[in-house]
Formats: sequence, C-alpha cells, structure tokens
Amino acid sequence: MKKILVTGGAGFIGSHVVRLFANNYPDYFITNLDVLTYAGNLENITDLEALPNYEFVKGDITDEAFIDELFNSKNFDAVIHLAAESHVDRSILDPMSFVKTNVLGTGVLLNAAKKYWKNKEDKLFYHVSTDEVYGSLGETGFFTEETPYDPRSPYSASKASSDHLVKAYHHTYGLPIVISNCSNNYGSHQFPEKLLPLMINNILHSKPLPVYGKGENVRDWLWVEDHARAIDVIFHTGINGETYNVGGFNEWKNIDIVHLLCNIMDKKLNRVEGESAALITYVKDRAGHDMRYAIDATKLERELGWKPSLQFEEGLDKTIDWYLANDEWISRITSGSYKQYYDQQYTKR
Ligand code: NAD
Ligand code: TYD
Repeated sequence: MKKILVTGGAGFIGSHVVRLFANNYPDYFITNLDVLTYAGNLENITDLEALPNYEFVKGDITDEAFIDELFNSKNFDAVIHLAAESHVDRSILDPMSFVKTNVLGTGVLLNAAKKYWKNKEDKLFYHVSTDEVYGSLGETGFFTEETPYDPRSPYSASKASSDHLVKAYHHTYGLPIVISNCSNNYGSHQFPEKLLPLMINNILHSKPLPVYGKGENVRDWLWVEDHARAIDVIFHTGINGETYNVGGFNEWKNIDIVHLLCNIMDKKLNRVEGESAALITYVKDRAGHDMRYAIDATKLERELGWKPSLQFEEGLDKTIDWYLANDEWISRITSGSYKQYYDQQYTKR
C-alpha cells in the first residue's frame, strides 16, 4: 500500500485533494496533516473519517521534531504539500507568519524527506504552488513554465522561496520532485476572505461588496475540482524535476466577476435586477496589487492530457449553490478568531 502524506488537507484545495485521493485510490493510505489554522476546518472532510485508507493528524509543518518523528514512524512513499498561509491581504499585514509556514515549513518537510528517503527512486515530493510567483502581467501575454520568477507580495515571495527550496533539494540531493503553479481557484469550502466566497457571502447578507481600486485587476479562475484532478494527473504521470502550470484559460476583471455574481444571485434570491450590484463599494486598493495573472497551461494539456472540465458559468453556479446551502458553514468558520479580522477588514470599510 502506497503511503501518502498530504499537508494542509483541512483547507480549501487540500480537502478536495484528500477526498479525490482517498476515494479514488483505495490502495493508497492517506495521512492528512494539518495544524488547523483559521483556514483549516475538519468539517470540510467529515465524509472521509470512516474510510479505512485515511487518517487525520493534527500537527505543525514548522515543528521539526514532530515532522521528524512522523516521517520516522510512517514511512511515507510520497508527499503532496499544500499546507500554507495563502491569503495575500494577510501577508501584507503579517509577513513573518508567511515566511515561517511557507518557507521554514517547506524546508522542514524537505529535510525530513531527504533524511528518511534512503531509496529515492520510488518516492515523490509534490509541491503545490501558485502562479503569483511569476509576478504581474500587462494587458497581454501569459505565464509559462519558463517565465522568470518575480514575486511581488509577501505571500508570493514566500511561495517563490519554497519553490526554489524544492528545486534546490532536487538538484543538490537528488530528491524526486514535481511542482505545479496554479491560477486562482474557486469552488466549495473556500474560506470567505478570498474574492468569490467573500462576495457571495456579502451579497447573501446584503453587506457592502469591497472592490479594491478600480476593480480592473484580472485573475484566471479555475474550478478547484479541476485543480485536484490536475494534481492527480501530475502526481501519477509528471516527470521528475518538472514544473507544470495549471490554469483555466478563463480571465476575468474583478469588477466583471462581481457583476456576474450579483446578476446570478439576484435571480437565485428573487431580488429585483440590480439590487445586489447596488452593494458594490470601491475601496482603497491593495498595496502592491498585481494587475493581471494569466496562465498558459498548454504543457500540462500537451504532455499529460489534462484540461479544465467545467465552463466557468457552470462552475460558478455550482459554487454559489454550495454557499447558499451551507450558510451555517460560513457562520461557524467565521465565528472564531477570524471574526475580529473579518469585521475589521471587510465589513467596516
Ligand atoms: P487554505 O488557506 O484554504 O488552506 C491551507 C491549509 O494549510 C489550512 O488547512 C491550514 O490549517 C493548513 N496549515 C497552515 N499552516 C500550517 C502549518 N504550519 N502546519 C500544518 N498545516 C498548516 O489554502 P488553499 O487555498 O487551500 O491553498 C492550498 C495550497 O495551494 C497553498 O500552498 C497555496 O499556496 C496553493 N495555491 C492556492 C491557490 C488558490 O487559489 N487558493 C492557487 C494556487 C495555489
Ligand atoms: P484574492 O481572492 O485575495 O486572490 P489573489 O489576490 O491571491 O489573486 O483576490 C482576487 C482579486 O480580487 C485580487 O485582484 C484582489 C481582489 N479583491 C477585491 O477586489 N476585494 C476583496 O475583498 C478581495 C478579497 C479581493
């Protein structure tokens, strides 16, 4: 039985990844390691608890002694590393926690893999990263795997550092690795501080919709389950040492996406047309706000046969329905330590 350590599996993308791997591969044993920060929630994965090939372990990737003991006792064959601090606005407020988790935490995991993986041939360290490491685009062009790194926020700089560490362990110690750099994900179970769930939640509760700057920044949106499928494909068929870009070929200006959400939700909530859009509030721009991200994912399609499966409108519809049906989930996840931050950041502007 292949033993796989997934880090950050109680978070947004990680929960979709552990669900896919635990259900689709009964001959793999999945250890889901997560320290359960504000973004990690065991409610995201209650459906997996009864599976015989799955366990949850609470722990911190920056705790060297703990990670050492985990690798020593579990004899992992592979790591899929998603645990991270993931929100740009938080990285602007508190960069050091991003340095700690994303840089130090990745280093601790790499060191344990290097120490315990004596026979490296059949091992794999899969590092899940972001397109934000490439910096910011102008009106044209795409990020390819050859685009030089140019991170510009503390979040993207910490992810770029972790990518470089992963590559350094490959080149220096021969650690088998793959890296994927993905565009913005959307879907169920995303913490409501990121653009889409924040806007959906605020529309539902008739709160102001804070659009940064002029709302003209562009992001490339991918349905989270398509990202999880890409991770599956890359994990099984990706080439050792390679990087794969993952994206939806689906660029949207923020303001256009917010209007689209408003229109769909007016209909779903039986509101008069324009009622939700009246909540749009332009607020102070994010410091160092990257203008445009757009991923060229043709390498992944050409070499490994992956393509996004869902049209954006269909994915958005499913996503909105999930949040409308799970309003209690949002109330619970935002009622703890996050509440204060949320009120301060988003509702009192
Ligand atoms: P998330 O914030 O929803 O979840 C992160 C998870 O990591 C949480 O469950 C949290 O408890 C856990 N975690 C944080 N610090 C930890 C620590 N020290 N030890 C153990 N666990 C810890 O993040 P997400 O959006 O699911 O992103 C997952 C990964 O994918 C991240 O590495 C992120 O950089 C990357 N990524 C995200 C996106 C996106 O659009 N969300 C896009 C591309 C790449
Ligand atoms: P976000 O979801 O934080 O992802 P990222 O910054 O990693 O791309 O933000 C997506 C875009 O939406 C980004 O251009 C910032 C913008 N944004 C707003 O305009 N208002 C908001 O309240 C948030 C959270 C983001």
